[in-house]
Amino acid sequence: MNAVRIHSYGGPEVLSYEEASRPTPGPGEVLIRVHATSVNPFDIAVRNGYMHSWFNYSFPLTLGSDVSGVIEEIGEGVTNLSSGDVVYTRAGVFRDGANAEYTVAFAADVVPIPQSLDHIHSAALPHVTLTAWQGLYELANISAGQTVLIHGAAGGVGHIATQLAKLRGAKVIGTASVNIDFLSELGVDQAINYTTTAFEDVVRDADVVLDLIGADTQQRSWKVLKPGGILISTVQAPSEEIAAAHNVRIGFIATAPPIGPTLTEVARMVDSGQLTPHVSTILPLREIRRAHEMIEAKHTHGKIVLQVVH
Ligand SMILES: NC(=O)c1ccc[n+]([C@@H]2O[C@H](COP(=O)([O-])OP(=O)(O)OC[C@H]3O[C@@H](n4cnc5c(N)ncnc54)[C@H](OP(=O)(O)O)[C@@H]3O)[C@@H](O)[C@H]2O)c1
Repeated sequence: MNAVRIHSYGGPEVLSYEEASRPTPGPGEVLIRVHATSVNPFDIAVRNGYMHSWFNYSFPLTLGSDVSGVIEEIGEGVTNLSSGDVVYTRAGVFRDGANAEYTVAFAADVVPIPQSLDHIHSAALPHVTLTAWQGLYELANISAGQTVLIHGAAGGVGHIATQLAKLRGAKVIGTASVNIDFLSELGVDQAINYTTTAFEDVVRDADVVLDLIGADTQQRSWKVLKPGGILISTVQAPSEEIAAAHNVRIGFIATAPPIGPTLTEVARMVDSGQLTPHVSTILPLREIRRAHEMIEAKHTHGKIVLQVVH
């Protein structure tokens, strides 16, 4: 099979589209023929070596986590899936991933794709939706009438988080720059262009801040929260001391199994028209370097998906 692998850490030039052996599913695993996969900033962090101290990767390493495809083979003991099932999941966070023609995943994490979506749009969902779900539904447990500020609302996680927050009846304030028009399409109540307006000048008494940016953006977020509010980040763990000084709570997102039940619920929400993934760019798998460069430019509109089966 062909796969995108790295043999050392570095820039986009270390991404190699090359022949690799087809993985074999172990007990409790399935082999998926990948039809579409995607690129997330996590993959760039892995490629750069930033994740080295958390995950015990060895080279060559196949990148990528999102997959939508068809079950090719089932491993010993798998009873919930059969060959030919059309499925999606997040694979490969701890090992070889899904930027390949075939990938292996834990059967418990693998569920049918939304019936109303093709592989391209299904592959856009898992990583970003699990992230937004954990942040807003599990850590913040947002409710109707609350105000949620989402930094980076037009990107992969942000465009799903915005929809999840609106579904719970929250008021959503989102930040973006070149993608600001996309925020109104998503139903954001108040869009802030972060290049022309300091959000802390116009936002007060937020119940939740979802920080998808980090650094200075996170530091300036404390003062917009109401007492008892919560600052949740995907990028860097917020300081407990500063939180205590502001009388607010903190959360840091690190999604882990079980993911199957959430992905099943996500498919149901998509099929009932409540949630829509937006794919702005589709590239062939072999052009993955372009996808990494686009993510590194930090202006992604929704998701960038890699097509594997044409
Ligand atoms: N901890 C976890 O488990 C976890 C999981 C998923 C993601 N993450 C992290 O979360 C972050 C977001 O992920 P993602 O997939 O959403 O990234 P993404 O799709 O690359 O985000 C791109 C978006 O960020 C916006 N943006 C850039 N600079 C901004 C700023 N200063 N203020 C507000 N918005 C800004 C851009 O809007 P404009 O183009 O309009 O400027 C663009 O739409 C990444 O750092 C990723 O590594 C962590």
